[in-house]
Amino acid sequence: MPDTITAGRTPTSPTLDEKALARALSGHHLIGGQLVPAASGKTFPVVNPATAEEVATAALGDAADVDRAVSVAAAAQKEWAKVPARKRGELVGACAKAIAEHVEELGRLIALETGKALRTESRVEANVVADIFAFYGGLGSELKGETVPFHPDVLSMTVREPLGVVGAIIPWNVPMLLMALKVAPALVAGNAVVVKSAEEAPLAVLRICEILNRILPPGLFNMLSGFGPECGAPLVEHPKVRKVTFTGSVEVGRIVGQAAAKKIVPVTLELGGKSPMIVFADADLEKTVMGAITSMRFTRQGQSCTAASRIYVHEKIFDAFVSSLAAKVDAMVMGDPLDEKTDIGTIISADQFAKVKGFIDEGLATKGATGRACSAMPSDPALKKGLFIQPHIFTGLTRDSRLVREEIFGPVTVLFPFSDWQQVLAEANDSEYGLAASVWTNNLKVGLRMAHALEAGLVQINQNLVVQANLSYGGIKSSGLGKEASLEAMLEHFMHKKTIMVNMA
Ligand code: NAI
Ligand code: MG
Repeated sequence: MPDTITAGRTPTSPTLDEKALARALSGHHLIGGQLVPAASGKTFPVVNPATAEEVATAALGDAADVDRAVSVAAAAQKEWAKVPARKRGELVGACAKAIAEHVEELGRLIALETGKALRTESRVEANVVADIFAFYGGLGSELKGETVPFHPDVLSMTVREPLGVVGAIIPWNVPMLLMALKVAPALVAGNAVVVKSAEEAPLAVLRICEILNRILPPGLFNMLSGFGPECGAPLVEHPKVRKVTFTGSVEVGRIVGQAAAKKIVPVTLELGGKSPMIVFADADLEKTVMGAITSMRFTRQGQSCTAASRIYVHEKIFDAFVSSLAAKVDAMVMGDPLDEKTDIGTIISADQFAKVKGFIDEGLATKGATGRACSAMPSDPALKKGLFIQPHIFTGLTRDSRLVREEIFGPVTVLFPFSDWQQVLAEANDSEYGLAASVWTNNLKVGLRMAHALEAGLVQINQNLVVQANLSYGGIKSSGLGKEASLEAMLEHFMHKKTIMVNMA
């Protein structure tokens, strides 16, 4: 018998009816293995940015919900820490399988709430989430300590222990993936987690939490929705939260970092960037222009912390590069996020829309600057209220322009010609951010020289891939603190090392 999908009754098998699923998930947190309303009973609307329709509501979390979730998590964690590490990994591996079975469903749901195109972004994100859980699921027996040669009569060793309850705060741009980078390693390491989702995108992460709660012991993985100051802040400040991990803006990252410092608990911060892409004259032009399109994350409307939002191209190939880039972006299809033909969807929210428009208008009004608007606006009348913005490619801006210095988090990139590697290196490093960078050249000597000198946590030569589960990822300068992904992130950021000494004399 097929599942009926009604409010509060979500299907146990994957569904392709994203709208019914959104309604069924409406108004809930997930605490202690159960979908529950907010203690206050209040909700807030979840809007499809492609149509401006309200598609669901989310539970409006506050300090009471935080306290309930953290208490449940603290109790569950005590039992979880006793489960052998490899067994914990096995359960997290089983989560990967469950997510993989729901890829289509999760892709459609995230497309509905974020406006990200299904084919180019949303389905891809769901697959990466399964991969992250699979990767960490295999690492249970890697939580090793060391023996230390202290004295022949003293056995001295270190063991790694979980931290307790982890409070995780995530943004809306790739919410499922950024959630997975926190939850999967935290769980394998023996912690419990309470996630506060982003107010713009609470549904798909709630659904993942529900799916995983069929496998994990209740209370171990909890999901709250709500706004930053009312729900995020009490989570960070809760005395039983012993580790905070945050992805979002620099502004809020500072607040979260200070709150963690007050409690003296470790914090990981991933705070965005203004990532340079540097193209030398010998680079393969076609491949590099395609690389600029992926690097700039145009299919995600540029809503990426690693977006190549400053592109420096050698003067010999500058004009050819700009026209080829503009032509290729122009050929991309902007439209209904759920349509398989669509390359580019919408901006997440009216606030972000206004922010990005502000940058574009400022660029267009700048004397001497040219902003090329690419890709046709969708013509479908059903999308007329959608938050679509044409990708913009700017040249002729000055280096002190706000478009060059600030993170736009929209489909806007700025291009500059250069002639000298030292000058371009200095310009690339002249930023408060230090998250990612890419260098495009067939001369490995030049590429490596640049890679070593660029101030960034991640430098790629002749590619600019998104986060990979097994590669350490994180920024320097205002881009953040600590690493995500990789074995290292789990060991260093979700565990502490205890030293034990035995006197055998
Ligand atoms: P934000 O930093 O305000 O929100 C991120 C998360 O932090 C959300 O879950 C939010 O509810 C929570 N939050 C907000 N205030 C909080 C507080 N006082 N205590 C605890 N949690 C709090 O980011 P927002 O407003 O969505 O976007 C603004 C800008 O931030 C974007 O334009 C972009 O430049 C940057 N950003 C960077 C991201 C990244 O991947 N590094 C992701 C999202 C935004
Ligand atoms: Mg904000």
